[in-house]
Amino acid sequence: MQKLFIKGKKKLSGSILISGSKNAALPILAATILGKKVKISNIPLVKDVFTMVTLLKSIGSKIKVDKKKNFLEIINKKKLKTIAPYKLVKTMRAGVLVLGPLLAKYKKAKVSLPGGCAIGTRPVDLHLFALKKLGAKIKIKNGYIYASANNGLKGNKIKFPSISVGATENAVIAAVQAKGKTILLNCAIEPEIMDLISFLKKMGCTIKTKNRTIFIEGIFKPKDITYNVMFDRIEAGTYLIASALIGKKITLLKLKPDIIKTEIDILKKMGIKIKVNHNKIVVYQSSKIKKINLLTSPYPGFPTDLQAQIMVLMTKANGTSSIKENIFENRFMHVPELKRMGAKIDIKNNTAFVKGPTNLSGAEVMATDLRASVSLVLAALIADNKTTINRIYHLDRGYEKLEGKLKKCKAIIKRI
Ligand code: UD1
Repeated sequence: MQKLFIKGKKKLSGSILISGSKNAALPILAATILGKKVKISNIPLVKDVFTMVTLLKSIGSKIKVDKKKNFLEIINKKKLKTIAPYKLVKTMRAGVLVLGPLLAKYKKAKVSLPGGCAIGTRPVDLHLFALKKLGAKIKIKNGYIYASANNGLKGNKIKFPSISVGATENAVIAAVQAKGKTILLNCAIEPEIMDLISFLKKMGCTIKTKNRTIFIEGIFKPKDITYNVMFDRIEAGTYLIASALIGKKITLLKLKPDIIKTEIDILKKMGIKIKVNHNKIVVYQSSKIKKINLLTSPYPGFPTDLQAQIMVLMTKANGTSSIKENIFENRFMHVPELKRMGAKIDIKNNTAFVKGPTNLSGAEVMATDLRASVSLVLAALIADNKTTINRIYHLDRGYEKLEGKLKKCKAIIKRI
């Protein structure tokens, strides 16, 4: 099993190119099921994307990946299979996103239930709720979702009882091939959903958005298109925090700062010196970091996917900061590992209180999920001595060329 060795306290400087968004690429890849020939650029070469590619290949899509150009081409000439097996969906929950498009296109689908994962139970009831409202009949048997709509899906007015990124995506991809008008209310409006909508519109769909409402007009005839995936705002946020922690001067490139305004404003409030241009951000060394009280919430709120990373910055702040996790019930698994490195963190219910400033020291730690793993990398970068991070396959699910990007900024980091 691979490990990462990091020698801490080395000041970082240089520039980092932000990759394409994993969380935008996954629903877009699922939506290619609706099309015949689709080319996608700025695809991040991360494990989850390859799992989705394997899933699409397993149902019959012909896919060519150009790793040098972060580009892929998908051709769906023949009828696709309508089964997504357990072995692929269990490793990546986003596999369930093929349910909507398969059902919409072929009137039936059998997709494995994804099951729980490290950060919580993560049910798919909201995905199924929306598809049922579009006319699908759904049965759960032997760990699989069996969905059918013998006469095709039909548009409807659907109000989500709570906000879900994945359920909004599944509903949107299904509704574009449902007869008539669909109005989705109380939707997630993460930038990745807006990217999926831009992709679908380019393919020929009629979609409008207003606040948390999405208006869709079905059915459409898919055009052959080329689409460029948006930048990864979570990767950008992660390097923004890394730069605030230990950067001398770091420039983040290939991103749209408007989209991460919440994160930039929070870091500025913490005393981090940041200069924003229209497509780049420069972060300067900061002497004093101020405490802050935060909570995670759906976009445009502070993302749960950056909660673990900002907690590391809180260990450097003067005084006690807090962060309340509102999205997932079990997303503090990095805390015991950060405490082993010297962090002073108390958890009460779903709030973590972080006492700072503390000096972290290197240790052997274990990664538990994608964002928890990267928080350990950030902690290791500022810690005394050497840190060994085990189980780094979690990192490879979502961070493209992590060591390469950090090494370019002079970090001492090695994969063994
Ligand atoms: C997506 C992101 C993930 C991010 C999360 C929240 C992808 C591939 N993943 O995950 O990185 O952390 O959004 O921003 O884009 N829920 C239900 N029933 C459902 C669906 C969700 O109760 O049917 C609950 C979940 O358990 C969670 C909350 O709703 O507590 C939000 O989850 P959701 O927005 O659906 O997250 P994902 O789409 O799984």
